[in-house]
Amino acid sequence: MIHVLGIVGSPRIDGNTERLLKETLRAAEEGGASTELVRLAGKSITPCDGCLTCKETKECKIRDDVGPIFEKMMEADGIVLASPVYFGSATPEMMALVHRVGYLSGAKGRVFEDKVGGPLVVARRAGQNFTFAQLLFFFLHQGMIVPGSTYWNIAFGREKGEVEKDEEGLRTARNFGKKIVWLINKIKEP
Ligand SMILES: Cc1cc2nc3c(=O)[nH]c(=O)nc-3n(C[C@H](O)[C@H](O)[C@H](O)COP(=O)(O)O)c2cc1C
Repeated sequence: MIHVLGIVGSPRIDGNTERLLKETLRAAEEGGASTELVRLAGKSITPCDGCLTCKETKECKIRDDVGPIFEKMMEADGIVLASPVYFGSATPEMMALVHRVGYLSGAKGRVFEDKVGGPLVVARRAGQNFTFAQLLFFFLHQGMIVPGSTYWNIAFGREKGEVEKDEEGLRTARNFGKKIVWLINKIKEP
């Protein structure tokens, strides 16, 4: 069975980003996939310190919550990275995760190659496109395949739950989930 992992980079549990991601994951489930949602909130996601020992040992010497998340990412067929916009950027937790797993993947022989996925982004007013592109760089750098949706994967909302009023944003997230499953099935076809 296809497995899609969604990671929420917001420190706010049950916030807009998580709700948007749930739309994507629900659509993926409706398409026949199993899914899991992982929150970075409350986890220890230490920034990469650039020691580069992973290139020698193929492991990260920092012992925190990144290790188990990296394992889940390696096992998944599809990966969605969902972040709110903080000062025009993805959250520091999300970027720390991207830096750590991106370097580890390189050290271990490009373990995300040919996986399917992409970003989801929420903001009150501005910065969605930049943050979407910022996270897209990770997927493209890693040789992953990013399907489109019916719009860029962005939505609007400030207070918890406000994103649910952004019908187009929710629809885009759902269509993205469907497209992820469609693409993984195509790739796995004999
Ligand atoms: C520190 C901080 C910085 C923010 N920066 C931006 C920003 O640059 N642009 C914007 O439109 N909204 C900004 N916001 C609003 C959040 O993106 C918005 O509330 C979003 O819905 C939060 O997602 P969440 O509910 O998943 O945490 C910021 C919020 C915080 C707490």
